[in-house]
Amino acid sequence: MNTNFLNKFILASLVNLTKLTILDLYQNNLSGSIPIEIGYLSSLNELDLSFNSLNSSIPTSLGNLTSLSGLYLNENHISGSIPKEKGNLNSLYLLSLDDNNLSGPIPSDLENQKNLVTMFLSVNHFIGSIPAFFGNLINLQYLYIQSNNLIEEIPSSICNLISLKVLYLGRNNLRGEILQCLVNINGLWVLKIAYNNLNGEIPSSICNIISL
Ligand SMILES: *[C@@H]1O[C@H](CO)[C@@H](O)[C@H](O)[C@H]1NC(C)=O
Ligand SMILES: *[C@@H]1O[C@H](CO)[C@@H](O)[C@H](O)[C@H]1NC(C)=O
Ligand SMILES: *[C@@H]1O[C@H](CO)[C@@H](O)[C@H](O)[C@H]1NC(C)=O
Ligand SMILES: *[C@@H]1O[C@H](CO)[C@@H](O)[C@H](O)[C@H]1NC(C)=O
Repeated sequence: MNTNFLNKFILASLVNLTKLTILDLYQNNLSGSIPIEIGYLSSLNELDLSFNSLNSSIPTSLGNLTSLSGLYLNENHISGSIPKEKGNLNSLYLLSLDDNNLSGPIPSDLENQKNLVTMFLSVNHFIGSIPAFFGNLINLQYLYIQSNNLIEEIPSSICNLISLKVLYLGRNNLRGEILQCLVNINGLWVLKIAYNNLNGEIPSSICNIISL
């Protein structure tokens, strides 16, 4: 499949497939931008465009896909910030944006996505702090935001995420004390916080935390 495949395919035929629920085009050597017409596929439940060479920014029309539960755009060259329209995707269960060229702060609209269980934002250029509202995404089990440019302290609201199993925060510029309240998250089994400017003790009761 060549460079123009996605654009031609979507433009010419897919726009009418309003009943399409799953579109998986991962690892197809797709390049160029994600066409805005993707927004017409209003029944999409899963969109997987990962492992391609897509660039430009995420089209705001993606916010029209309100039935989306899984969005995989990881391992591309997508730039720009996460559009605030993404906040419309209230059914989102998995958001995978890692390994792109995304920048800007993590948008506050993500707060609406209370169904999120897995969020991959690693290996991008996100700036600002880890938003305190992450603590309201109470279904989160897997949170990966390592290798970004995040600064400031880790908000203590993270400790509200009682379902959390994996937390990757390494390779940022986070500072402050290591949160002692993490001991309250009984199911946490991987915590990676290396390559930051954190200090303080690792809570001794987190004996099953295998890797820093
Ligand atoms: C992928 O696309 C590039 C250019 O878009 C092309 O040169 C290359 O041969 C393609 N690779 C495969 C495996 O099709
Ligand atoms: C995106 O990829 C296309 C096709 O490979 C290329 O022609 C275009 O210059 C790229 N645009 C950006 C902004 O990198
Ligand atoms: C997205 O939704 C808006 C408002 O419902 C509509 O006007 C627009 O045509 C849609 N765009 C796409 C690309 O689906
Ligand atoms: C990455 O994003 C930055 C800022 O948006 C942009 O200037 C740069 O060209 C992008 N790099 C690539 C390889 O697309």
